[in-house]
Amino acid sequence: MALKGVVLAGGMGSRLFPLTKVTNKHLLPIYDEPMVYYPIRALVEAGIRDIMVVTGGESAGDFLKLLGNGKAFGLDHLEYGYQEGAGGIAEALGLTRYFVGSDPMVVVLGDNILEKPIDGAVRRFRNQGGGARILLKRVPDPGRFGVADLREGRVVGIEEKPKNPRSDLAVIGVYMYDNSVYEIVDGLDRSARGELEITDVNNAYLRRGELHAEEIEGWWTDAGTFESLWHAAQLVHAQKTRKAGGKEG
Ligand code: DAU
Repeated sequence: MALKGVVLAGGMGSRLFPLTKVTNKHLLPIYDEPMVYYPIRALVEAGIRDIMVVTGGESAGDFLKLLGNGKAFGLDHLEYGYQEGAGGIAEALGLTRYFVGSDPMVVVLGDNILEKPIDGAVRRFRNQGGGARILLKRVPDPGRFGVADLREGRVVGIEEKPKNPRSDLAVIGVYMYDNSVYEIVDGLDRSARGELEITDVNNAYLRRGELHAEEIEGWWTDAGTFESLWHAAQLVHAQKTRKAGGKEG
């Protein structure tokens, strides 16, 4: 079975207004490349070549102009999906079912940027034989994210943007699911903010006893707020200039 890749780049980007007044958040620059390049490259570097980008809003056509058939990533094909409105990450994921078919998938949020490749985690997901795999990172501001509650090293619950986080382990926007994710999405109710929440999907896998988790190495950031967008550009700039200086691989 081929592992499919999904980049979710819908939503309103309202936290970045007015930068997102006339364009989509994921087309904004992170140092020298558009934001959406980073999650696509994370999938390609993990050996995934069948990729769908789900977007939405007024600038959806610009994704086609920018990404075309994926040539910048060495791909000869890219698939596109369109989410009407911003009904949540799990809603956007639900739109990929005709593309993914009966395969397992790796989902990356369009505003998530990682220092290190995810190939190791993807390999462990392939070998775990179904279920889901989430990635965790210690952060100073867990209340902005989905937060994992751990007992004896095992995840026992995930809370979305808790006021009193039970740990500093954020659930980052890289999710690996088997095909039962669509049945889980179909059974979700909308949250208080009117969205189908990816945290509810992960908790559903947890209740089934099929949720695996691991902590990632290297830095990770989202880029959906002014602060994190600025921080992401600084991290990427430091990494790229270090590489260009030949001090790294
Ligand atoms: O960045 C990781 C965090 O992302 C997780 O820790 C949280 O559990 C998860 O809910 C999410 O939190 P945010 O509130 O930061 O998500 P945001 O609304 O910024 O959406 C993140 C990306 O998901 C966005 O860049 C595009 C995609 N998205 C989002 C929504 C709401 C869609 O494709 N469609 C949508 O309707």
